[in-house]
Amino acid sequence: MAQPVRVAVTGAAGQIGYSLLFRIASGELFGPDTPVHLNLVELPQAAKAAEGTAMELDDCGFSTLAGIDIHDSPESGFEGVNWALLVGSKPRGPGMERNDLIKENGPIFVAQGKALAKAASDVRCVVVGNPCNTNALIAQHNCREVPATRFSAMTMLDENRAKAQLAKKAGVNVGEIKNLAIWGNHSSTMVPNFEAATIGGKSLTDVITDRAYLEGDFFTTVQKRGAAIIQARGKSSAASAASSCIDHVKNFLTKTPEGEYFSAAVPSDGSLYDIPQGLMFSVPVRSNGDGSYEIVKGLELSDYMKGRIGQTRDELLKERDVVKDLLA
Ligand code: NAI
Repeated sequence: MAQPVRVAVTGAAGQIGYSLLFRIASGELFGPDTPVHLNLVELPQAAKAAEGTAMELDDCGFSTLAGIDIHDSPESGFEGVNWALLVGSKPRGPGMERNDLIKENGPIFVAQGKALAKAASDVRCVVVGNPCNTNALIAQHNCREVPATRFSAMTMLDENRAKAQLAKKAGVNVGEIKNLAIWGNHSSTMVPNFEAATIGGKSLTDVITDRAYLEGDFFTTVQKRGAAIIQARGKSSAASAASSCIDHVKNFLTKTPEGEYFSAAVPSDGSLYDIPQGLMFSVPVRSNGDGSYEIVKGLELSDYMKGRIGQTRDELLKERDVVKDLLA
C-alpha cells in the first residue's frame, strides 16, 4: 500500500467530526488503495470525547485506516499533515451578533494558522468552522510558509443545497444540475448564481422560467437553509456539512470535467469580477486534479447578479475590517 495521507480534523469530537471522520477513514475520500492517518484535534476538555470517536473508528475495521492520534493542540496536531480540515470553532451563543462570533473565533484561527507551519510541504487547508471565509483568511495570513492558494473555505454545502432546491423545482435528478456556483460569503448574503447554471445541458432559466421564484423563494431558501435546519432539528446541520466537506476535497483532487466548475471560497488576486485582492471569496473553480485549481474567468454576470455579489462582497470587507488586527 502507498504511504498514508495524513489528515488533521479539528473539532473532531463535534457533530460534523462525528460524520466526517468515518467517511475519510472508510477510504471514500482518497480511494480504497490509499491509507489514511487521522489526527483528531480537539480542545483539552473534549479530548476524552475524541477518544470515544477514535474507539469507534477502530471498531469499524476500515482497512484504509492506518492510524489515529488525538491531539489537544494544533502545534502537535498539524505536524506533517497533508490536509488540515479546520472544523472546530465556537458556536454562536444566544443573542450573539455575527461580529462578536467573528471576534471570538478569530484567535483560534491565528493559532491554527501559525501551527500549519509544521504541516507537510504540500499541505492544503480547508476551513469549515464559521464564519468560514473570514476564519480561512485569518489562518492564511498567519501562515506565510504555505502559499495562499492552498487555503480554502467551504461553500459546497450551499451549492448542494441550491442544486437540491432547483432539482425539486424542475422535477429532475440533482445530478442534472451543473455550474450552480455560490459567490461570496458563506452567510445569508451568499449568491447562488442560477443564471449561469444548466439543467440537462439546457440553460436553467429556460427550464425554470419563473424568475420571481428564482430571485425570491429560491434565493431565500438557500440563504436561510442553515437556520431552517436548526429550527427543525434543534442543532445545526452536521451530516450534510460533513458530506459537502468530502465533496469539497474530492473536487480539488479530481480534474473537473470540461465545461464544468464547482464552488469554493479561495483567495482573490484582485484581477477578477471586481473582487478585492485578498478576500476569501466563493467563486466558480476548476481543479487541475492535483489539488491545484483555477478560478473560472470570463463569466458574464448580469446587473442583477453583480448587485447581489456586491452585497456579499461588502459584508466580507466589513468582516475583514473586524479582524484586521489578526491579519499578520
Ligand atoms: P460542534 O459544536 O458540535 O463541535 C465543534 C467542536 O469543535 C467541539 O467538539 C469543540 O470542542 C471543538 N473546538 C472548538 N474550538 C476548538 C479549537 N480551538 N481546536 C479544536 N477543536 C475545537 O459544532 P459542529 O456542528 O461540528 O460545527 C462545527 C463548525 O462548523 C461550526 O462553526 C459550524 O457553524 C460550522 N459549519 C459550517 C458549515 C459550512 O457550510 N461552512 C456548515 C455547518 C456548520
